Amino acid sequence: MTSNIIKFILNDKIQEIHNPDPNETILNYIRLRLKKTGTKEGCAEGGCGACTIVIGELKKNNIIYKAINSCIAFTPSLEGKQLLVVEDLISENGSLHPVQSAMVNYHGSQCGFCTPGFVMSLFSMYKNNNSYNEKTIEESLSGNLCRCTGYRPIIDAAKSLNNSKSDQFKKNKRKTISLLKKIRPKSISIKNQNKKYFAPKTINELKKIIRKYPNLDFLSGGTDMSLIVTKQKKDLDNIVYLNSINELNYIKENYKYIEVGATTPLRQFELFIKKYYSDFNIILKRYGSVQIRNVATMAGNIATASPIGDSLPLLLSLDASIVIESFNKKTILPLKNFFIGYRKTKLKKGQFISSIRIPILKKNIFKAYKISKRIDDDISSVCASFNLAIVNKKIKSIKIAYGGMAAIPKRAIYCEKVLLNSNFSENIILKAQKSLEKDFQPINDMRASKDYRMEIAKNLLIKCFSEIKQNKLIRLNY
Ligand SMILES: Cc1cc2nc3c(=O)[nH]c(=O)nc-3n(C[C@H](O)[C@H](O)[C@H](O)COP(=O)(O)OP(=O)(O)OC[C@H]3O[C@@H](n4cnc5c(N)ncnc54)[C@H](O)[C@@H]3O)c2cc1C
Ligand code: FES
Ligand code: FES
Repeated sequence: MTSNIIKFILNDKIQEIHNPDPNETILNYIRLRLKKTGTKEGCAEGGCGACTIVIGELKKNNIIYKAINSCIAFTPSLEGKQLLVVEDLISENGSLHPVQSAMVNYHGSQCGFCTPGFVMSLFSMYKNNNSYNEKTIEESLSGNLCRCTGYRPIIDAAKSLNNSKSDQFKKNKRKTISLLKKIRPKSISIKNQNKKYFAPKTINELKKIIRKYPNLDFLSGGTDMSLIVTKQKKDLDNIVYLNSINELNYIKENYKYIEVGATTPLRQFELFIKKYYSDFNIILKRYGSVQIRNVATMAGNIATASPIGDSLPLLLSLDASIVIESFNKKTILPLKNFFIGYRKTKLKKGQFISSIRIPILKKNIFKAYKISKRIDDDISSVCASFNLAIVNKKIKSIKIAYGGMAAIPKRAIYCEKVLLNSNFSENIILKAQKSLEKDFQPINDMRASKDYRMEIAKNLLIKCFSEIKQNKLIRLNY
């Protein structure tokens, strides 16, 4: 059964939107239709956090609260969820939520414009953790920019939450869960003027839709796609939303590889991957912000094929494969054969990535580094990843990949050749450094000059080998 009515929970009631415009952002819905103007628009591209809201999702009889950027999420994605905006935090009797009180008590609100976003990020942190240390606080606020004064009073407010009482949402939890169960998300099919929007719930339904409409654009977390609407001011006329398909939200493992379903949010994956490849986790912690990673997917990162997509060099060095499906076919393709030009891939219309397979290499050394202008919430200038096995001081296998060094994320084949079967020595590393000039001819752009990129690429190779030699991490921030 499909429906064109979006149902979600707002202020303990089921709210309906009939046949919404599929390109309407949740931010515009909140401000222009609900007339709740606490949530602000800053950048309209997911980068400042002023528009942060919290979404409640039902998971195994519990509610998971996720901070997201409402400026880059479309209204139909609210289907089956709870919507929480800053006005909703005040209790019925008018008292402030513990997070709001903490911001008042510690003078955390300065300009005021960014404050609702900070409050909502802290609210999501408050709901998802039992205690709040500096690391948890910094991570929770990594997607919220304060450019007027500074973060100290906000961080102090966050720390004070360690002593706060429970809130009205905890008391109301059972009622909210029963409401969420009542609305049971449906498959959505919207035709609004010339725009089509589908949100199937199963792979089977998805395949039927793409068979009928092979020209639809896939939308997952929307952290790249939505910018077509909010920044390029264009319409997305034909959307098939994937993130309602729970069958594609999984992480499985066998003795050979980890398989990550296409709609698994990066935030879920980053926690899992730590036990296999801790540097993968470290890179993902610096990938956008919590708001971005709560919805963004690795499949979206791969399909976007940006030369500076952060997961891509890591996956290339690990020799990952992707599972590609259409309505009647399934193929497995090594990622190294997927990128064919600047933002061009082998994906054809009607084909989607259903999962990513990452080999488990327990005996190998895996390292990855991201160089960006800012530590948090910034995209790479250069990203490098190394996967190698050393046996009796000899490099027995090696795969190296870089982002930001070419039109596509790419393996450093010449460099690998120099190193393979060589003794692990300083001389060979110096030779391998030089060979990077054969692998890459980087470009100048606003993020970095070509000379800087090459220098960084060479230095990261040295860094990797120094870390291995000294058997310790040589890093300022991790
Ligand atoms: C503020 C901000 C910060 C960011 N920071 C980073 C960063 O630090 N590092 C980084 O690498 N990226 C960053 N990004 C980019 C973006 O978040 C990632 O590329 C993300 O992984 C995209 O995933 P998504 O699910 O949101 O994709 P979407 O935006 O939904 O889709 C992106 C593209 O992939 C296609 N697509 C999505 N899923 C599939 C599928 N299963 N099969 C086939 N095609 C599919 C879509 O059609 C679209 O062309 C940032 C973006 C923003 C807005
Ligand atoms: S308005 Fe800046 S993140 Fe949404
Ligand atoms: S308090 Fe809003 S920008 Fe600093």
